[in-house]
Amino acid sequence: MAEIGQDIAKAKVLLEKGELVAIPTETVYGLAANALNPGAAASIFEAKNRPSFDPLIIHTDSVDKINQWVAEIPEALTLLAEKFWPGPLTLLLPRKSIIPDIVTSGLDRVAVRIPSHPLTLELLKTLDFPLAAPSANPFGYISPTSAEHVNKQLGDQIPYVLDGGPCQVGLESTIVGIEEGKVIVYRLGGLDVREIEAFVGPVKVKTHSSSNPSAPGLLESHYAPRKPFVVGDVISLLPQFLDKGKKVGALTLSEIFTEIPESDQIQLSARRDLKEAAANLFSAMRSLDELELDVILAEWMPNEGLGKAMNDRLQRASVKA
Ligand code: TXA
Ligand code: MG
Repeated sequence: MAEIGQDIAKAKVLLEKGELVAIPTETVYGLAANALNPGAAASIFEAKNRPSFDPLIIHTDSVDKINQWVAEIPEALTLLAEKFWPGPLTLLLPRKSIIPDIVTSGLDRVAVRIPSHPLTLELLKTLDFPLAAPSANPFGYISPTSAEHVNKQLGDQIPYVLDGGPCQVGLESTIVGIEEGKVIVYRLGGLDVREIEAFVGPVKVKTHSSSNPSAPGLLESHYAPRKPFVVGDVISLLPQFLDKGKKVGALTLSEIFTEIPESDQIQLSARRDLKEAAANLFSAMRSLDELELDVILAEWMPNEGLGKAMNDRLQRASVKA
């Protein structure tokens, strides 16, 4: 198991040596390495068992630093950066050649984010290189929202987990770029698209990988629990599993089902608050995955704002590779 603590100096020394450190962010925990060191970046792929065509996001603490690594920040994206950084927003920007190919999977753009977690911001301030950091989970599994989640799954492969408590947002960042002058959203995430539109006008949402080579990481099956995971109208799904004597768990926004034990169901937000629900989503999926169940049934979230990003995660969690 990795050591867990809040020692920024220790994290810095390890990262400078090219080693991996898990870091807290407001979205999910990241598995970080020096993004300018191709060997260090390669060990991220190895630890996560991640395919090399899936590019990494780099993290830093200031736009000044970002200018060393990207050719320009288009005006519309500058507006978004000023408004939403630090925060759950990732921008795709034209990279300079100092960014290694392994980080972008050879693409011309590099994904950049200034996260808002105070501990990680403090760490980033002390570094003169950006941190490449994907979510700190084995490839394809649910993203981690606590230091314990990271340690359970990747603890054997990393020396240190910087513990910043539970993640406040709980969904990965919203990924945004520009094509022919138009703002495009490539991944729905912790920043509501409506907030983006309030600043730059209507945007195009262009998710899903097979038809979208510029976001190769958006694979159809992802965020998946190990147990069968079915999304839909739980009440009408229940009989077909209960009639066969299956042990069923349920994941809902606020509903409670009398047909199954209370301990086998999780409500994400009793007051139906989508922010609260999003912050609880991944940890609830993990908890249910750890119970003795045959199947997990999940209710779709209201399809608006963060609910859309949550539905995207539920959808992909339910697709078996
Ligand atoms: O909130 C987050 O974004 C978290 C925290 C740790 O910052 N990170 C995260 O990273 O979710 P990851 O690796 O799990 O997802 C990164 C995704 C890739 O799968 C891909 O879809 C997209 O970001 N991406 C990264 N670089 C890209 C690029 N150059 N062009 C297009 N898409 C890119
Ligand atoms: Mg991920």
